[in-house]
Amino acid sequence: MNRYQEKVYQKFQLNNASKAEKRYNHSIGVAETAVELAQRFYPELDQVKVYLTGLIHDYAKYESLARYQGIVETYQLDKEILLEVEKIYHAILGCYVIQEELSITDEEILQAIYYHAFGNEAMTPLQEVIYLADFIEPNRNGEIVEEIRKISSVNIKKAIAMTAQYILEYLQTKGDKIHKNAYLTYYGYKKYLKENE
Ligand SMILES: [Fe+2]
Ligand SMILES: [Fe+2]
Repeated sequence: MNRYQEKVYQKFQLNNASKAEKRYNHSIGVAETAVELAQRFYPELDQVKVYLTGLIHDYAKYESLARYQGIVETYQLDKEILLEVEKIYHAILGCYVIQEELSITDEEILQAIYYHAFGNEAMTPLQEVIYLADFIEPNRNGEIVEEIRKISSVNIKKAIAMTAQYILEYLQTKGDKIHKNAYLTYYGYKKYLKENE
């Protein structure tokens, strides 16, 4: 286990022991899948960086609301952030936790973590591989995941568009509050849905 793997595992154990194993396996799955995607579509990406970003992307998943409130205070962020969809805190506020606790300051890594939950209308290669890997890593299953996994072996943009479409429809069906970036990703990538491969 490398240094970061250990830190991620310990963090999950500390914040939510019953889910630690599962979340850790998911993190490894995202790291490995992101590297595979990068090798296939963006070989110019630094693979060590891709792996690390995948590994730590959910590091702040089980933080307390108090900790997030503290982050907003400390960094003098807009308090409106705390009115956003809660599921996104571990991404948009998690970056600060990661910076503080893992001493990671690489902006590309932090931005990819910031956008991993709902994406963005135009993502960088690193942001794309993390966003998609989060949805198709081997521990995820289901018909739609299988379908997107298949497309992801040939067309990453189309696979992202399908993911964004599925997430949006799923949230709409459930009647959940929807973060604006879920729409932005769908509208930014939907043109790729028409591509044959
Ligand atoms: Fe996440
Ligand atoms: Fe995740």
